[in-house]
Amino acid sequence: MAEIIAGVACSHVPAIGVAIDQGKTDEPYWQPLFQGFERSREWMSELKPDVAIVVYNDHATAFSLEMIPTFALGCADAFLPADEGWGPRPVPLVQGHPELAWHIAQSVILDEFDLTIVNRMEVDHGLTVPLSLMCGQPDAWPCPVIPLCVNVVQYPPPTGNRCFNLGKAIRRAVQSFDQDLRVVIFGTGGMSHQLQAQRAGLINPVFDNRFMDDLVSHPESVTRIPHVDYLREAGSEGIELVMWLVMRGALDDEVRQMHRHYHVPASNTAVGHLILENVR
Ligand code: DHB
Ligand code: FE
Repeated sequence: MAEIIAGVACSHVPAIGVAIDQGKTDEPYWQPLFQGFERSREWMSELKPDVAIVVYNDHATAFSLEMIPTFALGCADAFLPADEGWGPRPVPLVQGHPELAWHIAQSVILDEFDLTIVNRMEVDHGLTVPLSLMCGQPDAWPCPVIPLCVNVVQYPPPTGNRCFNLGKAIRRAVQSFDQDLRVVIFGTGGMSHQLQAQRAGLINPVFDNRFMDDLVSHPESVTRIPHVDYLREAGSEGIELVMWLVMRGALDDEVRQMHRHYHVPASNTAVGHLILENVR
């Protein structure tokens, strides 16, 4: 039986990827941010998961405004890093796990979550930056990755509650896969940030820290946050946080917080990070 053993929440700021790729992680601006991920990389290399499900959002890279799936599951053998204007990041090819991905598609769709099945997709910083933060700069990523792409770019994004329940459906799907796989699930994006208009640069540490507290200890309360509160409190791009709820929904009600890190600023964004393990 496969099982989800742990969850990771992690912001995905593109400038973090550039800092890693250009060897700037020890510079004074970046050092405090990266220091908070040293333990995370140790945790990841000790955990040695067999598969990672990475819940992330595409930034009009693989999908344009011509086609906007709410939830898109990557079922391909591999996913190329996308060219986001500076060329594709010099990171390894993302290897998929088609067998588990197709099983999740079948289980979740028959469980009445209508995912889009994607057999070819490039992956942008939304997916590669969290992988870099958690795995460093290896020649190959340490495990296959199943990308689950959520629309948080074009209104209307899914509700936090829908995301939480999708996490529960993914957990049921993984548990009904008949291979012994230890799976970790990432919820990426966030925390507070707004990249545009009058409130560009908005950061709200009070909201961010309460969000992390509640996500760990009583996630049901987080599922009730309406979109307008994310916008008001966490800025227009703060809505990326609904993706953390997919991760949380896939874990036990009670979890152990193994690590937590919060840092401002990284580019225009407050960076938040959690490592949660199921209590066994
Ligand atoms: C920034 C943050 C994001 O989440 C993103 O997708 C692009 C840019 C930023 O802070 O610069
Ligand atoms: Fe983003």
